[in-house]
Amino acid sequence: MSSNPHNPHDLGIDPDERTLDQHEPPTPLIDEGTRTVRPRVVRTHLSLFVRDPEVSATWYQDVLDMEVTARGPQWVFLSFGKKHHDIALIRAEEAATAGGIGLQHYGLEVAGDLDNWRRLYGMLLTKGVHVVKTTDHKVGFGLYFTDPDGNRLEFFHETVTDDEEGKRILGLYGAPSEPFEVEPLYG
Ligand SMILES: [Fe+2]
Repeated sequence: MSSNPHNPHDLGIDPDERTLDQHEPPTPLIDEGTRTVRPRVVRTHLSLFVRDPEVSATWYQDVLDMEVTARGPQWVFLSFGKKHHDIALIRAEEAATAGGIGLQHYGLEVAGDLDNWRRLYGMLLTKGVHVVKTTDHKVGFGLYFTDPDGNRLEFFHETVTDDEEGKRILGLYGAPSEPFEVEPLYG
């Protein structure tokens, strides 16, 4: 169905039924030139197989300050405070084991300055969370730790806030991940 820009019913609502800002074009579901369908990702969520969703949910509430938004016998959904869910925890098969293929880590870009990031480091250690490493990515610092099932998460403190500059630096340094010695802060 073709849209008519002069038809008020074609303005304001996106093909995926989001309400648009006044000057925002609707999602180009199909590129007119190539006829290919293109996704326009606006938000993301992650779903993980875990041994025990309730045990893991308690950890995600405690360590990441998430809130449970829905739960069933085999699953728990958690939010960082806005969305219906940012992370879903799904009960894995009884015999499931973690393998070398799959999720490497889930990066959480956190607000605040470097000292706040160091305080998160201190918080993880205080709670007995396994911290894997701290690294310098040239566009920010990464603090890697694991959940109860060994899934790796990252608190990312961004130091290059201009996205175009960030892309340039990542390419220039070859997606750098250098050891970064930093002391945690407590309180
Ligand atoms: Fe990352």
